[in-house]
Amino acid sequence: SDPLRLGIAGLGTVGAGVVKIVRRKAELIAARAGRPVTISAVSARTRDKDRGVPLDAYDWEDDPVALARRDDVDVLVELMGGADGSAKAATEAALAAGKDVVTANKAMLALHGPDLAQAAESRGRVLRFEAAVAGGIPVVKALTEGLAGNEIDRVLGVMNGTCNYILTRMESAGLEYETVFDEANQLGFLEADPTLDVGGIDAGHKLALLASIAYGVRVPFDQVELEGIGRISIDDIRRARDLGFRIKLLGVAQMTGRGLEARMSPCLVRADTPLGQLEGPTNMCVLEGDASGQIVLRGAGAGEGPTASAVMSDVIDVARGTRLSTFGVPAAALGEVRLARSATP
Ligand code: NDP
Ligand code: HSE
Repeated sequence: SDPLRLGIAGLGTVGAGVVKIVRRKAELIAARAGRPVTISAVSARTRDKDRGVPLDAYDWEDDPVALARRDDVDVLVELMGGADGSAKAATEAALAAGKDVVTANKAMLALHGPDLAQAAESRGRVLRFEAAVAGGIPVVKALTEGLAGNEIDRVLGVMNGTCNYILTRMESAGLEYETVFDEANQLGFLEADPTLDVGGIDAGHKLALLASIAYGVRVPFDQVELEGIGRISIDDIRRARDLGFRIKLLGVAQMTGRGLEARMSPCLVRADTPLGQLEGPTNMCVLEGDASGQIVLRGAGAGEGPTASAVMSDVIDVARGTRLSTFGVPAAALGEVRLARSATP
């Protein structure tokens, strides 16, 4: 059968990881997808950069919008990042040209997801974003598919690996925030703009996306309560530990009679719970369905392999012909919601 032909825009950590999987696992992917998945063309800012994987077999496009419009591209795989700019322009161009889009871009989706999804669905195309939330953890699929028969009571979790690394390393090594921040930077955990991580914004984007799926609403991101970890001291962490708690950058979303509560902030979590025991650059998503009860998903929230794994699950879904709505309900049916100030969780 006909191959599904990808155009990959962005060849950084995640993009290079996707190219590696497509090349190395071609047979497995074809078997699972029911057809071959190939790469027609790629795009990045700099052409002559070693990305740890051969790219000579693919056409090169300097302009990701041109890549998105190519006749030999069925799916744009958007892995550039940024809420607006090239990522949004290429996504819109792909949808307008009748292509499907797979992206890991939580910033773009938290700000423009419903409008982009509507653009996709009105043309019979799909826009998928498994990799945008909690890296390798298949939490978007768990909510949209696995828990589709549930009313969702609550979604919570640790959704930024960098912050969890910083907080747990401060505790285990007895180091101050600034020292561990520099360490995280050297390890390559931080976003290009680190305030997205430590300001709670990146994790807030992910929480907003999960809340949209859980409650079928457009979440006004500027009303999500956000507080970062920059003011947490080693003394705060020690005092919490002495009382049997740990400090986590925790997100909680739940629908109340007053509206949607959605907050990402440093919280005290009992040290003897799964969330309290979460170490290093790891994520944990807790989903509470009225019929399913509590489901806990734990795994790598970032990095080349885990994030590329999530991108490939969307690509394979598209190859199989799965036509799921981006947010689990048609984007045109997403409701408006008022955000309520949260009670302390
Ligand atoms: P990187 O910064 O490593 O890579 C970004 C890539 O996009 C680079 O190859 C860059 O080109 C290219 N690029 C940027 N702007 C343009 C442009 N205007 N035109 C063409 N190419 C462009 O990012 P990541 O791979 O880490 O992240 C990609 C996306 O995945 C982001 O949305 C991020 O939030 C998301 N994500 C990342 C995770 C991770 O662990 N890294 C986890 C989950 C999601 P060049 O290399 O030439 O500079
Ligand atoms: N900077 C993010 C994190 C990358 O640390 O979790 C994954 O979204």
